[in-house]
Amino acid sequence: MDSKQWFERANKVIPGGVNSPVRAFTGVGGTPVYFRSGKGSKVQTEDGTELIDFCGSWGPLILGHAREEIVDAVSKAAADGLSFGANTAIEAEFAELVCGQVPYIEMLRLVSSGTEAVMTAIRLARGYTGRRKILKFDGCYHGHTDYMLVASGSGLLTGGISSSAGVSPSATEEVFVAPYNDLAAVQEILSANGDEIAAVIVEPIAGNMGLVEPVEGFLEGLRAATANCGALLIFDEVINGFRLGPTTYGNLAGITPDITTLGKIIGGGMPIGAIGGVTEIMSTLAPLGPVYQAGTLSGNPVAVAAGRKTLELLRDENPYLKMEILGQRLAKGISHIATEKGWELHCAQRGGMFTPFFRKEPVRNLDDSKACDQAAHARYFHHMLEQGFYTPPSAFEVAFVSAAHTEADIDAFLEALGRMI
Ligand SMILES: Cc1ncc(COP(=O)(O)O)c(C=O)c1O
Repeated sequence: MDSKQWFERANKVIPGGVNSPVRAFTGVGGTPVYFRSGKGSKVQTEDGTELIDFCGSWGPLILGHAREEIVDAVSKAAADGLSFGANTAIEAEFAELVCGQVPYIEMLRLVSSGTEAVMTAIRLARGYTGRRKILKFDGCYHGHTDYMLVASGSGLLTGGISSSAGVSPSATEEVFVAPYNDLAAVQEILSANGDEIAAVIVEPIAGNMGLVEPVEGFLEGLRAATANCGALLIFDEVINGFRLGPTTYGNLAGITPDITTLGKIIGGGMPIGAIGGVTEIMSTLAPLGPVYQAGTLSGNPVAVAAGRKTLELLRDENPYLKMEILGQRLAKGISHIATEKGWELHCAQRGGMFTPFFRKEPVRNLDDSKACDQAAHARYFHHMLEQGFYTPPSAFEVAFVSAAHTEADIDAFLEALGRMI
């Protein structure tokens, strides 16, 4: 059976045929590809084709598909028992590893997804500060809890509106939404509501409206403004964490958030999430403090084994310079082709993260990203797929070069892009 047949079959028993909406190709049209296996930078599909993968399972696969040492670690852990619901030594070792690489993470609590990590971080911030409200940024995605599925409302100073049906209005009323990179908007909201705000949550480098970097002073400004009004600063590093160095982005940038959420890379491809911070704040979590959090599979030994091996390999092999060089080669190549062909296109890139934005002007926030030519992105996506390259099937996502990619993979990508009319 090929992808089309599998999709038809899945559609009868899975809503929309998918277990996460972006996989349905709604943003680009066409039939989703079914993957059979992956190794390094390449995947095999149910259509019998091989693709070079620049999606990397949306971020976790920084070392590529099925890296041998990680698969071995998972196999060994699985053979020893899939789950105990009791403590295992590897959980303590894993927390020590993360704490050792991020000075402001003194304690770590593991959960099973990024969504769960953010949910816990928000509750922790509320419990610690005794305040209810949250400030987030338009275009930053923090998982699918009620109060994170919020888009900007009619004005800065009103609570946001829900971006999904079924979300309780009382949840979204408690969330203010500001444009990313707009410190003045944040200051306006904080000066009117600062004493009610428990936390400001941000992706320090945004990855869910395409790759959008913070403008100079934005994150520093958030740090100062939150400290001034007694709100906590949450860096959601589910994408950023361990992406640009063997630590958090906050640590690399020299900006210390109060709470950090992690996911993706720290699970090496297995389901995981984490909340980290200083002991004083983390001690508010049960059983030490009054903020409840629990999970049958939290700290699952198989997931933690994959994550620990991934973090060890990243620490020991330090492939970050390689990914930056490959990322730059790709982004420069894309920009060069765009100029030659006269396309309205530029490529944002940082380390192994990149997004081709289909407009010439820089993208600094969600409005800019929405102003890009979505139809041109869909054409690019399908052209590259036909040529044997899998990129994220949405214009609002970041693509990834992993440590397993080679210069030849990048050059092949560029040659294929050059064939687009
Ligand atoms: C920044 C950020 N936070 C949270 C999440 C939610 O993580 P998960 O999909 O593991 O629930 C994501 C998912 O892409 C994300 O990009």
